[in-house]
Amino acid sequence: MADGGLKTAEIVPDAANARVFRDALGRFATGVTVVTIQGPDGPMGFTANSFSSLSLDPALVLWSPAKASQRYPFFAAASHYAIHVLGQHQSDLPARFSRGGSGFDGLDWHRNSEGVPVLPGALARFDCAQHATHDGGDHLIIVGQVLRLALEEGEPLVFAKGRFGSFTG
Ligand SMILES: Cc1cc2nc3c(=O)[nH]c(=O)nc-3n(C[C@H](O)[C@H](O)[C@H](O)COP(=O)(O)O)c2cc1C
Repeated sequence: MADGGLKTAEIVPDAANARVFRDALGRFATGVTVVTIQGPDGPMGFTANSFSSLSLDPALVLWSPAKASQRYPFFAAASHYAIHVLGQHQSDLPARFSRGGSGFDGLDWHRNSEGVPVLPGALARFDCAQHATHDGGDHLIIVGQVLRLALEEGEPLVFAKGRFGSFTG
């Protein structure tokens, strides 16, 4: 057996060390998205870094809302939604669309062909129809069929270790 010298502690994720599990997951740097839907009382948004590409043909993407989220029922049920990949210039948006945020108040927005509220300025916007959902423990995996996309120039907003930053590579 190879002797690697100093051993790194290995941890089994459970309720007693949930913080460590979260910290480990947070080391995976991601972009930041805002997912939008038309809710029962108007536009709703949800800040999510669980967005991922899934399939090129057919064009599919996914994201995962927490089942415990107050807004979960609306996002799980939405037939159409838009996923906005945020740029550096949109660093005010994640807080708006997280718990207690001001949402669409005072923001410029319009509706796409399916009536979904969309925000200008995203580096990429994916207009989706719900394709499938899968159980994901305390989250729901929502797979979207990409109906159309829109691109704008800019630098991505990056999220890692609980902090927002920029890509300097
Ligand atoms: C950068 C960032 C990424 C997030 N990503 C997710 C996510 O992928 N899934 C999720 O359920 N919540 C995510 N959240 C938290 C949600 O935006 C939201 O605050 C939380 O689900 C509580 O929502 P509620 O007010 O509807 O209960 C993220 C928050 C931040 C700031």
